[in-house]
Amino acid sequence: MLNIIILAAGKGSRMQSDIPKALHIISGKYFIEHLLDNIKILNADNIFVVVGYKEDCIKKALNNYDDIIFISQKDQLGTGHAVMQAIPFLNQNMNYENNLTLILYSDIPLIQIDTLKKLISYDYDLFILTNFLEDPTGYGRIIRNKNNHVYRIVEHKDASDDILNIKEVNTGIFSVKTDKLKKWLNLITKNSQNEYYLTDIVNIAFKESALIKTLKPNFSWEALGVNSRTQLADLERLWQQYQSNLLLQQGVTLADPNRIDIRGNLICDNDVFIDIGCIFLGNVKLSKGVRIGPYCIIKESIIGEYSNILAYSYIEGSEIGVNVQIGPFARLRPKVIIRQDVRIGNFVEIKNSTIGKASKASHLSYIGDSDIGKDVNIGAGVITCNYDGINKNETIIEDNVFVGANSQLIAPIRIGKGSTIGAGSTITNDVSENHLTLSRSPQISIKKCNKSRKIKK
Ligand code: UD1
Ligand code: CA
Repeated sequence: MLNIIILAAGKGSRMQSDIPKALHIISGKYFIEHLLDNIKILNADNIFVVVGYKEDCIKKALNNYDDIIFISQKDQLGTGHAVMQAIPFLNQNMNYENNLTLILYSDIPLIQIDTLKKLISYDYDLFILTNFLEDPTGYGRIIRNKNNHVYRIVEHKDASDDILNIKEVNTGIFSVKTDKLKKWLNLITKNSQNEYYLTDIVNIAFKESALIKTLKPNFSWEALGVNSRTQLADLERLWQQYQSNLLLQQGVTLADPNRIDIRGNLICDNDVFIDIGCIFLGNVKLSKGVRIGPYCIIKESIIGEYSNILAYSYIEGSEIGVNVQIGPFARLRPKVIIRQDVRIGNFVEIKNSTIGKASKASHLSYIGDSDIGKDVNIGAGVITCNYDGINKNETIIEDNVFVGANSQLIAPIRIGKGSTIGAGSTITNDVSENHLTLSRSPQISIKKCNKSRKIKK
């Protein structure tokens, strides 16, 4: 049986923030969301989140996660005290024999699942994740005896100069036999800092000859803790570098691996090219041969093979077909489906619409709640007037229609196959197939008359 306890009660004073640390954001998600999403695959029997500082905010932010149990730590008296709060809850739910408890920290948000899997797959009494850092400042140090057995952890602020030179640090992440954890926690006492340190269980465990082992994370960065904005910025960059290296290995060309941000899950086929400054949010798929121009933002979308997204385009919740060209400066809002060979040009906004094969909207248009057929040409400045102030109405434009520039289509409306709308028209009624329709006030020209003269005072 596996319990997971996530410590998230701390204020995180060193962040200089009103937001509780668990709700700071890295790679587009709350720290604690990264942990909760990653550990799903471990199928823990119980997930406890220890909350304290601004606990209501944390509970509210996590209200989609229905399989977690919140535990309040009223006063934040240290990491040991935080874990103690969870003990009675473990007690209610199970017998302790052969149970494992995995302790995680909401301020170590990017710990990877492979490392955690290793940490729970051995029968040790206490399995400690330790890291080796060139600059171990701030971390608890791992103290080993001459047989190389860990017997103590000393916090940075309590350490002598000798100990400060040790580069092996405590990540804080432990996997412990649940019955032992309960016993050892009962034995720890408040220290000179007026706190109960979880790390004090190590020496207690050592004294009773418990089996203590250590594990190194696969990557050093995944076990880095975030105490300050500087550490947050550093960890974000390390994570982004890791992801961009994976893309390079998979056959993606990045104009600059240091100028891409992936905040979610970006899947690329080979021969994709991504220019500088792009941000990918949520689940995004770029198919073979796709090119993404500079400074594009793409969220929850699929881009079809060999499509070309030009500079500064913003695409959200859209499905784009093969060999499409979008942008520069295009905006696709959710529920847009673009079929193959379509061209969408600059300053075109599309929302909740389907654009049929080989149609074009090249400049300055708004297309909302529309169903547009094949080989349609939408001229510059065409607007679908989809909102009457109360309801959103649909525009249907059938195949081979030509909509002249600067026309307004007042929805609900249907423009029949093969018809042409004259430029500058305001179309309020359905248009039959193969007709030319226009609505313009007649053009008049009036001969110039003499201008009145200014009266001299
Ligand atoms: C802790 C470890 C240190 C380790 C470092 C790694 C202890 C005593 N120290 O130090 O050895 O190197 O993490 O990142 O364990 N929390 C609570 N309740 C509390 C106190 C803290 O829930 O009363 C939570 C915090 O919200 C945070 C985590 O525990 O998520 C760690 O607390 P923090 O104060 O950041 O500990 P560190 O000083 O980093
Ligand atoms: Ca910390």
